[in-house]
Amino acid sequence: MEFKINDSRINITENIDYLFNITKNRKVLLLYPSNHDGFTNELMKDNFIKMGIKDGERGKSLRTYEIVMIKLIENDFQKNDAIVGIGGGSLLDLAGFVASTYKRGIMLINVPTTLLAMVDASFGGKNAINFSGIKNVIGTFYHPSAIYLNFSYINSLEKKQILSGMGEIIKYAATMDKNLFRYIEKNIEKVMERDLNAIKKIVYRSIYLKYSIVKKDEKGKNGIRDILNAGHTLGHAYESITGYRIPHGIAVSYGLVDECNILSYLGYADNSACMKIKELISKIGIKRMKRFRAESVWYYIQNDKKMDGDYIRIPAIVEIGRSDILNLNRGDLRNAIFESGSFG
Ligand SMILES: NC(=O)c1ccc[n+]([C@@H]2O[C@H](COP(=O)([O-])OP(=O)(O)OC[C@H]3O[C@@H](n4cnc5c(N)ncnc54)[C@H](O)[C@@H]3O)[C@@H](O)[C@H]2O)c1
Repeated sequence: MEFKINDSRINITENIDYLFNITKNRKVLLLYPSNHDGFTNELMKDNFIKMGIKDGERGKSLRTYEIVMIKLIENDFQKNDAIVGIGGGSLLDLAGFVASTYKRGIMLINVPTTLLAMVDASFGGKNAINFSGIKNVIGTFYHPSAIYLNFSYINSLEKKQILSGMGEIIKYAATMDKNLFRYIEKNIEKVMERDLNAIKKIVYRSIYLKYSIVKKDEKGKNGIRDILNAGHTLGHAYESITGYRIPHGIAVSYGLVDECNILSYLGYADNSACMKIKELISKIGIKRMKRFRAESVWYYIQNDKKMDGDYIRIPAIVEIGRSDILNLNRGDLRNAIFESGSFG
C-alpha cells in the first residue's frame, strides 16, 4: 500500500526487507520503549544504534527529546540518516518529533506495536511532545517514509489496549464507512479473539479511511480533517477529568456516543445511529464509567483548542457511515451538555 501526500510518499508494508533496504546506507537510531527490549529483536542490523525511551506519556517530554538529540549529535548523525521508532503511539509521537526537527528533518520509519498506533498514531503527519503539563502542545507535521506492520505485536497487547484501538476504528466506521461498521458488528468475536484476517481487514480499511481524509486536508486547513476529531471533543475532556487514566481510544469511544447523543438532542445527529454505536461499543466490551459531571465536562471543553471564539467544529453522525461537520455555537453546546441528560 502506498500513499502520496504532496511531496511525501509513504509505503505501508509487512515486508521487513523493505525497511532494511531503504536504510541500508544510513545510520539508524532505533527508538523503543525501554520496558519492551524484545521489540528490537527483529530490527537490529549493524548500522542500527538502539536507544530505550521511557514508556508511555513520560517519554513524550522535552527532557527525553533533549537526550535523544544529544545521542544523534554524539553519533554524528547526518541529514541522510534515519530514525526508526517502534512502539505505541507515545513512542512514535516522540520519534516523529525528533525526526522532523533534527537537521530540519531526517528519514522516519514507524513500526507501530499497538492497535491504536497501527490505525492512527503511526501516520497522518502529526507528532507531538507534552510540555508544562499540557498534552501534545509542542509538535510538527511530518510524514514517515514507511510504516512496517507486524501484526504479531497485537498478540501481547492487554485487552484494554485492543479496546482502545477499537474505539478509533469504530470512529472511522461510524463517521465514514457503513460497510466497515457492519463488518465489525458481524465479526466482533473474531476481532476480539484477535483473528489475524479480521484484524488485518479492519486495520487496512482504517488506514485507507484516514489517509483519504489526510490527502484532502494534510494540515487541517480546509476543515475536511475535522471529521477525524469525532468523539475527541468530549473524549479529550474525559481524559483530562480522569487524569489520563483511561486509554485514549476508550475515551474517544465514550466521546463518540455522548457527542452523538448531545448532537441528536440538538437535532443534528441521528438518534438511531447513536443507539447502534452505543450498542457496538458495549458489545466489544467497553464498559462505561460513572457519568461525568456537566460542570467538569464544560470546564474542559471551553479550554479545548478546537474552540474558535464562539464556535467549535464538530462532526455530527447523520447516519451510520456518514457525518456532517457543524460549526456549533458555544451556547448551544453548553445547553446540550447541561440539559440533554447525558451528564450528571
Ligand atoms: N500523532 C497522532 O496522530 C496520534 C494519534 C493518536 C494518538 N496519538 C498519541 O498516541 C499515544 C497513545 O498511543 P497508544 O495507545 O499506542 O499508547 P502507548 O504508546 O502509551 O502504549 C500503551 C501501552 O501499551 C504497551 N505496549 C505497546 N506495544 C505493546 C505490545 N505489542 N504488547 C504489549 N504491550 C505493548 C506500552 O508499553 C504502553 O504501556 C498518546 O500519546 C496519543 O497522544 C498520536
